[in-house]
Amino acid sequence: MEQDVTLDSENRQAAAAPRPADGRAPRKVFVKTYGCQMNVYDSQRMADALAPQGYESAATPEEADLVLLNTCHIREKAAEKVYSELGRIRQIKEARARAGRDTVIGIAGCVAQAEGSEILRRAPAVDLVVGPQTYHRLPAILSRVAAGEKVVETEHAVEDKFEHLPAGPRRAVAARGVTAFLTVQEGCDKFCTFCVVPYTRGAEVSRPVAQIVAEAERLAAAGVREVTLLGQNVNAWHGAGPDGRAWGLGELLFRLAAVPGLDRLRYTTSHPRDMDDALIAAHRDLDCLMPYLHLPVQAGSDRILKAMNRRHTAADYLRLIERIRAARPDIALSGDFIVGFPGETEADFEATMQLVRTIGYAQAFSFKYSPRPGTPGAELDGHVAEPVKAERLQRLQALLGEQQRAFAEATVGKRIDVLLEKPGRHEGQRVGRSPWLQPVIVDEKAGEIGDIVKVRITEAGANSLFSQPCA
Ligand code: SAH
Ligand code: SF4
Ligand code: F3S
Repeated sequence: MEQDVTLDSENRQAAAAPRPADGRAPRKVFVKTYGCQMNVYDSQRMADALAPQGYESAATPEEADLVLLNTCHIREKAAEKVYSELGRIRQIKEARARAGRDTVIGIAGCVAQAEGSEILRRAPAVDLVVGPQTYHRLPAILSRVAAGEKVVETEHAVEDKFEHLPAGPRRAVAARGVTAFLTVQEGCDKFCTFCVVPYTRGAEVSRPVAQIVAEAERLAAAGVREVTLLGQNVNAWHGAGPDGRAWGLGELLFRLAAVPGLDRLRYTTSHPRDMDDALIAAHRDLDCLMPYLHLPVQAGSDRILKAMNRRHTAADYLRLIERIRAARPDIALSGDFIVGFPGETEADFEATMQLVRTIGYAQAFSFKYSPRPGTPGAELDGHVAEPVKAERLQRLQALLGEQQRAFAEATVGKRIDVLLEKPGRHEGQRVGRSPWLQPVIVDEKAGEIGDIVKVRITEAGANSLFSQPCA
């Protein structure tokens, strides 16, 4: 689900923050987001929570009174990025101090949760450390920081952070575009042996139906046409429907399909064990549920899957994919893979390659195993040498790259619907998304941003599709 992306200050909404009650000039916050979409969503909610405190979004850290790094701990490289970025932010803080301006530095997200006060020891310029379950306490934390305290808040709070972090004012939401994320589930109880998420995000929690529907309606009213439901295990979402029956993600999708104005629904990331019949039926019956599924398998060898505690076999996964494809034949499949898990032999790796050949992915993310402190995987024998991991990753990525190109090529000549999302890089162009999540370059005469237009795909480029409007 997460792609090691760095999303600069997603919170650049145009809405003006109210002036602080004390009449001072508005302060500015710069949020830098690492890791998965759940962090992107949280960064926006943090910006929303700070707006009533008089914080406007800053375009650069240099002009920010508050710099928040929303961090990722999934692999060592992701976690270490934070410290190199902190070096840069510290210099900015020092330069601003020379000009008589204070800068508060905060670390949020999964590194904050995993390392807590250790961060203050390693990086004394940091003023506050806040874990993903306590963002709603940010205003209070900032008051304590203003009084001279260094604050670390990383307990998994009992109160519901979402209750206190409603989606922002309509204008702010609208300025973010025609697509939006909506977190419906957080945390994980699966404990795959390689993974830090159950420790950083805590136990699996589902948001109630009414809260989700209200947020989706608010987004739609603000002009959002496509919502992606998020969760570390989004298909483990469960709740009580208005009819009093137990609902799973499938039932929730049927309910959200009835929200006026929402034309496209997506969800990510799913676990193979939680793909139930209602969810598969949603793919069969809901036109607005886009034919795209990110369903990580991690490895193709049953021995390795067992050591990873995935609790499914390669055959279970293949059977599941068959059922999903029977329900929705044009579905594009995406996955995550780890190479070089401890004990992985050449034969185990070949089983992963074979599984990939059998499935045929439209898109995928693959990683070298990174031992994470505190996870059972890190304690296993048989760690694979770095050059072996690198070589396997290269082979796997070559295969996945071929499949991705083949999938893109197969769309050439097709007439498809594209949701126009933003202006293109070149004059006269807009960029939209295909139902299969591919960026599509569209002539601006085809429609306005927010429109869903019919185009014919003329060519598949390296990263996007090219098109001609259909009459
Ligand atoms: N909840 C999702 C994945 C969350 S983490 C799921 O269950 O599929 C996103 C991806 O990062 C994982 O799917 C996995 O492929 C990768 N990942 C997680 N921990 C890792 C580690 N220690 N080393 C390398 N890759 C890892
Ligand atoms: Fe991590 Fe496994 Fe949970 Fe996914 S299901 S978040 S990989 S522990
Ligand atoms: Fe990273 Fe935390 Fe997401 S570790 S992938 S930011 S849940």
